[in-house]
Order: sequence, then C-alpha cells, then structure tokens
Amino acid sequence: MNQLVKLLSIVLILLFTTILSAQNTLELKIDSAKTKINKEIYGHFAEHLGNCIYGGIFVKESSKIPNTKGYRNDVVKALKEMAIPMLRWPGGCFADTYHWRDGIGNPSRRPSIINVNWGGVTEDNSFGTHEFLDFCELIGAEPYVSVNVGSGTVQEASEWVEYVTSNVESPMTDLRKKNGREKPWNVKYWGMGNETWGCGGNMRPEYYADLFRQYASYTRAPQMYRIASGASEDNYNWTDVILKNTANMQWMIQGTTLHYYTICHNWDKKGSATQFDENEWYMTMKKTMFMDELIVKHGEVMDKYDPKKNISLVVDEWGNWFDVEPGTNQGFLYQQNTLRDALVAGINLNIFNNHSDRVKIANIAQMVNVLQAIILTKEEQMVLTPTYYVFKLYKVHQDAVSIPLVLNSEEMDFAGGKLKLINASASIKDGYINISICNLNASENEKLSCSFGGTTGKSASGEIITSSNMTDYNDFGKAEKVNIKEFKGFELNKNILKIDMPSKSVIMIRIKL
Ligand code: AHR
Repeated sequence: MNQLVKLLSIVLILLFTTILSAQNTLELKIDSAKTKINKEIYGHFAEHLGNCIYGGIFVKESSKIPNTKGYRNDVVKALKEMAIPMLRWPGGCFADTYHWRDGIGNPSRRPSIINVNWGGVTEDNSFGTHEFLDFCELIGAEPYVSVNVGSGTVQEASEWVEYVTSNVESPMTDLRKKNGREKPWNVKYWGMGNETWGCGGNMRPEYYADLFRQYASYTRAPQMYRIASGASEDNYNWTDVILKNTANMQWMIQGTTLHYYTICHNWDKKGSATQFDENEWYMTMKKTMFMDELIVKHGEVMDKYDPKKNISLVVDEWGNWFDVEPGTNQGFLYQQNTLRDALVAGINLNIFNNHSDRVKIANIAQMVNVLQAIILTKEEQMVLTPTYYVFKLYKVHQDAVSIPLVLNSEEMDFAGGKLKLINASASIKDGYINISICNLNASENEKLSCSFGGTTGKSASGEIITSSNMTDYNDFGKAEKVNIKEFKGFELNKNILKIDMPSKSVIMIRIKL
C-alpha cells in the first residue's frame, strides 16, 4: 500500500511539474528599461530590381496611375500611415554596378545601362539621386545610400557625397544646383559597398577592410554614419576582420552589416510562398529564430573590439525568400505574402527590439514587389500585405525604450527539431507599455501570463493579426483577409496580464500606466 502511495505521489509531482513547465510566462523588467529602440530598426530597402522602383514606387507623370511628380499616391499614403522611418537605396547587388552620374540631369538625356544582376533588363536611370532623396523627404524617411565600391572609384564616391550633402561652393554643388536642388539634402547614413564578399566584388575580408578605410577617408559629410559591408549569415570571421581593422579608428565606422534571409528549404529550392504545410510553417519559424543566435554571436565578436557598443550591427537585409511566383520573371524576385510572412516579420522585429543595444538599424528586403514586400502593385491596383500590417502594428515601438524580459515558452517537437512557440518584446513610451507577442503555434491557442513587477496598469487595449488559414494572403481585387483587428482575449488585473492567444497570430497589447 505504502509503495502505491509513493508511486502515486511521484506520478502526481511529475504531472504537476510538466503542467507548470508547460506554462508560458513573461516577466517585464520595467525598472531595468534603458535602451532606446531606434526607429531605424523599422527601416526598408528599395533596390533597382524588378518592379520595386519602376511601377512600384515611380511611374511616368503621364501615367493613368494617380501620382505626384511620378511617385504613386497610393504607395506614398500607405508608407506615411505605417510611419516608414528609413529607406535604403539603390541596392543590394545593383549598388555596386551603379554610377550615380548616370542618374542626374534631364531624364531624357540620361544614359541607359543593363541591370546585369536582375533580369538583364534595361535601366533607363530615370529614378536617380534627386528622385530618391525627394521621395524620402515626401514620405518622411531617413535616406540610407549605398555607394559603389565593387566597380566604382573612391573619387566617384567622394563626389557623390559632396554633391548630395555639401553647402560649400564647388563644381559638385554647382552641378546639383544646376539640376534644380539649391539646398543640400541631409543624408547621414552611407553604406560602403554591399555584399563585398559576393556580388559586390568577391573580396576577402582583409582586402575589403583596407578598401573601407580608404573610402571612409575620402567621403565626408556632417554627422556621417558610415556603414561597412559586413557578414553573410554566420560568417563570424568576416565581422572579426572588419572590426579588428577599423574599430580603433572610431570616427570612420559607425556600423557593420549582417544579411540573413529566412529560407524555408535551401537556396536551390526555397519553397512556395503560398502553398506550404505545417511542417514548412514550423521550419520557416525555426529558421527565422536563428536571427537571434546570429545577433548574439556577431555581437560577441564585436564586443571584443567595441565593448561600449559604439558600432552598430546593421541588419540591412532580412526577410523571407521563396521561389518566385510561377509565371513571373525569375530575375524579378516577386513573391506573394501570407500570414506566415506576418509571423516572420513579427519575430524578427521582436528580436531586433530585444537586441536594441547592438542593432540600431534594420531594413527588410524589400519595400515593394520584391521578396518579403510590404506592398504589392499591379498597374493601378495596390495590395497591403500581412507584413505591412505588422510594421503598422509595431510602429509604437519606434524610439520607445526597450523593456528587458524573461520569457518562458512552451516548446514543441517537429520534424525539423525543437521550437519555442512564443516570441515577444516590449517597450515603454508616452505612458504606455507596448507588448508585441507572436504565437507560432499553427493550430492551437496558447495562454500567456505576463507580470510587470511593481508597476500597475490602469487599462489595456489589444490588436491582432491572424486569419483562418496559415496560407491566407491579400490579393488584388479581393477583400483583405489578413489585417489588423481589435483583440479582446486578455484580462488585466493590476500588474498581471493574462492573454489567450489565438493560434498563428501577432498581437499587440498596450497598457496605459
Ligand atoms: O535583396 C536581394 C539581393 O539579396 C540583394 O541585391 C543582395 O544584396 C542580396 O544578395
């Protein structure tokens, strides 16, 4: 009998421990909040690639598509509503084939080039420096310009910076004025080449580090923020070599980049953007979560040379990369965008918020009609994708103070390994705590208990992005399936918030203090 009682109590203890450990809990360390989430973490990227610029942002003034000086009115409005803080241009791989002088002056006299990286199509250079920088002013975004290191010259880069930013009389500033712009533009962020380990010149890190030092020496502008062409994925040696050779000259380097795309399968077969099963859903989530490890490990390398974290890790290309939509140009990288993309955006942005001491800038690839786009266009029609709505939902985090958190999440096993089902970040600003949470569970609700220590919330409101099917997307000419809706599945009791999160959802809860 005694033995039976013993056995029963062991079983009960085990059961209780399992139930307890299966609970999702989130503890916000509000008293330790100190790091600002730079608004530039919510940045975007527009390359001369497919229909990102031409057709997506810029059309002929005579076009039947409503526009202002060629900029699509619908796209401009959507970007402003989402509070776009930064835009990177002109590439990507295109940047290292781009000669800026081809894109100034009377558009009808600008020379054409072949866009050798993206579809081999003619680039007529009608969207150049003036068109880009005026567009940034129109939408209220900080411009981030990538200069050509791969096939350009130091002099070309130096003159571009002078043309754009100087107010001193010189042949370059006279040329700018002749082309219609009296005042300089305020361009702070300059990238020195792109993917110089690949399409930007196939260089070795030692060679590029020297080139970076040379380009940095001859490009000068007020408050210039120079960004080195950094590592791909887990190439920690690249980050090491760049930092080792530059970090001791702090004036020259303010950031080094990291490029990491979520690829569900592999580079040869990336998988369909719209047709996938649960296993591919979880695989995509797991690959996205790898961003966290990459930031931690590149950060550790950077800490060796820059312990005070003066140099930022600039994640200026991230997002889902799937097979192109069947029937479209292989070189145009056009893909649809489902609820799965919303989760991937939510997770990445949470990761960046949580590492805002090192990650100061991030740019999703790309803004319109390319890869994980926030906007898709077809002639005069426009679709706002699930990813767009995540950026809109998360805009309250821009320039807020990040709240450190302790998250205990339930973990699941699937064919690709283990995966934590909850991902979150939090911030505080203007008397509100903002908590963004992703429930990665494709089929079941998850419950989360969230505590704020000694802080008491007066009231709370919630918004959610979810849909009936994980493959749902917004399509041209049809009612939107995935967008932001009011969410009421939570209870606030002073300093405890209990949330019942629907499966496959991105949620924002705002607590009024
Ligand atoms: O975003 C598409 C391409 O991906 C960019 O041009 C390049 O930098 C990266 O390889």
